[in-house]
This record gives sequence, structure tokens and C-alpha cells, in this order.
Amino acid sequence: MINVVIFGPPGAGKGTQSKKIIEKYGLKHISTGELLRAEIASGSELGERIKAIIDKGKLISDELITDILTKELENLGNVPGVIFDGYPRTVNQAEILDRILAEWGTEVSVMFDLEVEEEELVKRLLKRAEIMGRSDDTIDVIKKRLQVYHKKTEPVIDYYKETGKYKEIDGSGTIDEIFSRIDKVLQDLSQ
Ligand code: AP5
Ligand code: MG
Repeated sequence: MINVVIFGPPGAGKGTQSKKIIEKYGLKHISTGELLRAEIASGSELGERIKAIIDKGKLISDELITDILTKELENLGNVPGVIFDGYPRTVNQAEILDRILAEWGTEVSVMFDLEVEEEELVKRLLKRAEIMGRSDDTIDVIKKRLQVYHKKTEPVIDYYKETGKYKEIDGSGTIDEIFSRIDKVLQDLSQ
């Protein structure tokens, strides 16, 4: 299996590049953000609690995220691998993911860290707000999401550096330019 962690701050292009990777490599996309938004859209009481946290730009608890992830992986079927988008977001989640994958006899193949300047991130997210209307794409919540990213999520970078899985990717330029940087690494891995 090729298991990819696609990592980066809000607006870095994790979802956008996941789509390109799936088109070429047929991996299964697991975006914890999308799974949480689906729970909100279902109108459940759990969804209401999740929405309150997301709309403050804070993180959902590692326990709940692990439950959601485990359910997704149980229904995986036969796939050539998985793209984890927006997960892991804490060092604890990274350790949990390693344990879960080890139980399956597999592991993270590579972690792509999309590096984009903060000004560009905010610009992209405010532009998306006009099109998609995601409730956490307001300037105040974007600022909070970036703070939470620096404090809780950035330490995940060192975790993957230590395991030798870390690949920094210049996340600026066109979508295709960025994908070709990612694809170079994936081509080497799948040989
Ligand atoms: P999540 O849904 O993961 O959001 P995020 O990390 O804030 O990232 P985004 O989805 O906003 O950005 P992206 O990197 O996917 O960029 P995209 O490709 O869309 O999480 C949302 C919330 O859920 C969290 O805040 C948290 O509360 C909770 N959550 C989720 N996972 C969790 C976890 N594991 N633990 C705890 N809580 C969790 O691109 C952005 C925009 O830019 C798009 O409009 C796109 O079209 C555009 N764009 C992309 N590439 C380019 C380019 N090269 N040039 C110009 N525009 C571009
Ligand atoms: Mg996304």
C-alpha cells in the first residue's frame, strides 16, 4: 500500500492536491474535516457539538477523531492505499495513526508538508468563502485556525522528520506545478 499524509496549514491545498493524487493513483481519500462536515450536515446532536468547535477554529478531541477514523478504515475494502488529509493534526494523532496502520501490517509511506506563505493562505481562504461559504472561512476564524495550526499541529512536522517520512513541498504556484512536485516523489515510491 502507498499511504500518504497530506499536511499543511488551512488553505495550503491539501484537498486540492488530494484530488490530483487520487486521479492518478486511485488512493482512498480520508479527510477528517470532510467527515466532520458530513456529520454536521446529518443534523445529529454530535454534529451540533462538532460545529460549535469548528466554528471557533479549535480542534476536535483526539478521541472523537480516532473513532471517526477507525470507522472509515474498517470500511476501506480493497484499495491501493490511503491519503490522510487534515490528519494527523497533533503528535498524539500521529502516534495513533502509526499504531492503527501497524495493526493492518502497513505504515505511512510519505508525509507531504505543503509550505505556503500566510498572506497567500488567507487570500485563498477568503476567496473560497465567496464561492463555498464554509462557516469557518471568516477572517477571525481563519486567524484562530492558523494560531491552532502553529501551536498544536506544526510539531507533527518534527515527528515525521524523525521517522524519515517528511517531504517538504513548495505549495506556491499553480495547482499543476505543485502536483508535479508531489508526483515526482510518488513516482519514486511506486517503483
Ligand atoms: P479541514 O477541513 O481539514 O480544514 P483545514 O485544515 O483548515 O484546511 P482547508 O480544508 O481549509 O484547506 P486545504 O489545505 O484543504 O486547502 P484547499 O485545497 O481546500 O478542517 C476543518 C476543521 O475541522 C478544523 O479546523 C478542525 O476544527 C476540524 N478537524 C479536521 N481534522 C481534524 C483533526 N484531525 N483533529 C482535530 N480536528 C480536526 O485549498 C484552499 C482554497 O485555495 C481552495 O479554494 C482552492 O481552490 C484554492 N487553491 C488550492 N491550491 C491553489 C493554488 N495553487 N493556487 C491558488 N488557489 C489554490
Ligand atoms: Mg481541506
